[in-house]
Amino acid sequence: MSIERSHFDRESSAYPETVGETRAQSLKWQLILERAAPGLVAADIGAASGRHAIPLAGFGATVVAVDISTEMLARLKKRSLEAGVNVHAVASGLPELALHPERFDLAYCYSTLLLLPHDQQIAAIRTLAGLLRPGGTLILDLAGARSLSLFYWRRYYRKLGFPGIFGWRLSQVKNLVAENNLIVTGIYPQGALSQFLLLPGATRFPQLERLIRGNRDRHGLDEAVSKWLPALAERWYVMAQRPSRGS
Ligand SMILES: C[S@@+](CC[C@H](N)C(=O)[O-])C[C@H]1O[C@@H](n2cnc3c(N)ncnc32)[C@H](O)[C@@H]1O
Repeated sequence: MSIERSHFDRESSAYPETVGETRAQSLKWQLILERAAPGLVAADIGAASGRHAIPLAGFGATVVAVDISTEMLARLKKRSLEAGVNVHAVASGLPELALHPERFDLAYCYSTLLLLPHDQQIAAIRTLAGLLRPGGTLILDLAGARSLSLFYWRRYYRKLGFPGIFGWRLSQVKNLVAENNLIVTGIYPQGALSQFLLLPGATRFPQLERLIRGNRDRHGLDEAVSKWLPALAERWYVMAQRPSRGS
């Protein structure tokens, strides 16, 4: 069994099951929500225990949740039954996926690609782009190579036996999307300021932390600084579209 799978199997009971509170976490859901509608066909890649897949299915969307961790998927199945919705769970791992190409109106992959070395991320993005129907939308979450947090998280994951965390420069992000014949429709930088909360002692001031991070209803200072200095962001959420046929 891979290190990644056994790690996330172990984490499954503690992994967050609802949409995150901070601005950066809640924006993940907001971007999905823009597309949520009955009849939508969506793929959640690296779905964990379904914090996004289950509420999306609640809108009447058909949702396929993919993950390498069978423990995460077992929780997702149990929780989706409890919620009264059907989510299709598929155990599969990027960069390849056991899914039919060109079937999805929406595919998203949060907090997962950065665990893959660069060559595997390139292959994974090709796989994800290939899932889309003409006119479909892809949401990626890519790490910034120029962020301090990359060093922190790289050390953290290497101690666990992972290869590391792998980030990009902003110009490379745009190329990764364009190389797959997708059109960028939005880039949402995160973490240019909040990454400093990883410094020892920085979270001793909860009010300051809240001011920096913001929440679902209130922009934090982090959002403003990340928009001002996007090249230094910790992460970019990238929304891209496959052109419609004939366009
Ligand atoms: C950090 S969690 C993110 C979960 C969720 N997307 C979110 O934003 O909260 C990463 C998830 O991706 C899964 N994962 C890790 N590597 C993967 C891979 N190569 N292919 C598919 N899933 C993977 C893990 O099992 C875990 O459930």
